[in-house]
Amino acid sequence: MKSRTTFIITIDGTSGSGKSTISKLLAKKLNFILLDSGKLYRAAGYIVSQTGTKINTAIDYKKLTSQISLKPNENTYEYVVYFKNQIIDQYLYTDDVAKAASVVSKIAEVRECMFNLQQSCVKGTGLIANGRDMGTEVFPDAPLKIYIDADLEIRAKRRLSELLDKGENVTFENIYDSLMKRDDSDMNRELSPLKIPNNGHILDTSHLKPDAIVDKILNLYIITSN
Ligand code: DC
Repeated sequence: MKSRTTFIITIDGTSGSGKSTISKLLAKKLNFILLDSGKLYRAAGYIVSQTGTKINTAIDYKKLTSQISLKPNENTYEYVVYFKNQIIDQYLYTDDVAKAASVVSKIAEVRECMFNLQQSCVKGTGLIANGRDMGTEVFPDAPLKIYIDADLEIRAKRRLSELLDKGENVTFENIYDSLMKRDDSDMNRELSPLKIPNNGHILDTSHLKPDAIVDKILNLYIITSN
């Protein structure tokens, strides 16, 4: 009997374009598991910053990243990140961790280890992999590749309202500036820069709600999987 292969959907895109929200909704609808690869780089950044070591000094990244593992959570349809067998997802969404992640994600050794971890997630019926290089480097043969973007000003407005809701003291100008810098760093770095994958479908979320984007991806999935 022919074994069923895992259907992979890659979702890459700019910061704040809505790819996390869209990936989560899609994973639930399709009963697929979501791999948010940004979480892995955040985990590496978090662990390094916890040790108090300067990121660019000689660190055994292979040893460090070998202590990171992933386990699927069937309730949230998402891979959860463990460090030394403890869940660390809850520590990964601070500004300091984001900064550390952005630095470690440029280190070749770290990307190599993450590549293997990401590949190990290919099991079960389906995988949604989101990040910056899912469709270009990690799963270039995925049958459905999506690239999500939105106008910078709209992304900044959305991020501002999210952070104000959380009670953070931020301004539109700060957020606009930081998103612009992240775009530049993601698109122009040497290793695995963010770009549109071959045969990738470009979806602009500037004027569409996440549900409408999810419907578009579901249509593409139906066409591709038949
Ligand atoms: O999407 P995010 O903000 O959680 O990503 C955190 C950092 O990891 C960000 O600096 C980009 C980087 N990243 C990457 O280099 N490659 C990926 N596939 C995903 C994220």
